[in-house]
Amino acid sequence: MSANSRTIVTNQTGVHQDLSRRVERALTHALQKPVAEHTRQAFRATSKWLMSQEKPVILDAGCGVGLSTRQLAQQHPNHAVIGIDRSADRLGREHGVLPENAHLVRADLVDFWRLALAERWQPTHHYLLYPNPYPKAAHLKLRWHGHPVFPVILALGGRLEVRSNWRLYIEEFAQATKLATSSQPKVIEYDPRDQPLTPFERKYHASGQRLWQLAVELPYRPGLVPAKSE
Ligand SMILES: C[S@@+](CC[C@H](N)C(=O)[O-])C[C@H]1O[C@@H](n2cnc3c(N)ncnc32)[C@H](O)[C@@H]1O
Repeated sequence: MSANSRTIVTNQTGVHQDLSRRVERALTHALQKPVAEHTRQAFRATSKWLMSQEKPVILDAGCGVGLSTRQLAQQHPNHAVIGIDRSADRLGREHGVLPENAHLVRADLVDFWRLALAERWQPTHHYLLYPNPYPKAAHLKLRWHGHPVFPVILALGGRLEVRSNWRLYIEEFAQATKLATSSQPKVIEYDPRDQPLTPFERKYHASGQRLWQLAVELPYRPGLVPAKSE
């Protein structure tokens, strides 16, 4: 990957003016989209694998090629680490043997997260590393904190870590988390030094971009998600 990746270009000058409205809506209106059959099947297979592990679960949401999933599995040998991504192309790239406590799954996160919550998964750690930023103001709904699935992400609980090369993404995520819960996320400038966790982290760091991280300990709180009306 090139060492001069582009910096974020946005037409926003600060936190999006509709952020609190979006969060409020997500907390009061259930997501109606049905779960896709392929993600249901992928989730079933992943659940089976998880049961065979008999270890607490760590989620690596939007894992790309799964390098972070591999590293996290090595760092947490007593956990089962699941990397989820919708891109078959990324997941299919050859990066060596997976550690025995790591699993990669092709699935849509919007559905996978909801199934995980329905099955009462309680990840101890939940990573969202360099999510697609969707920097145009008109695309707030596509950022995870502006998306109707946001309460599900929070409801799963555990230590949630989000990293981005766009400071505003992290600030918005922190503000949305505060609005939805009483938790106080910690936002820092992140320095991966010589140990980047993901390919995106590596390329941004190599091109001199500043990186940001949000970390927050969240209680497991399924009641945060509005119930679907029949
Ligand atoms: C910018 S890449 C970052 C990949 C990796 N975490 C890294 O840092 O190298 C964002 C990843 O999120 C995945 N993604 C985005 N939306 C998704 C969704 N709804 N379900 C599953 N994966 C998704 C994309 O396929 C992509 O691999």
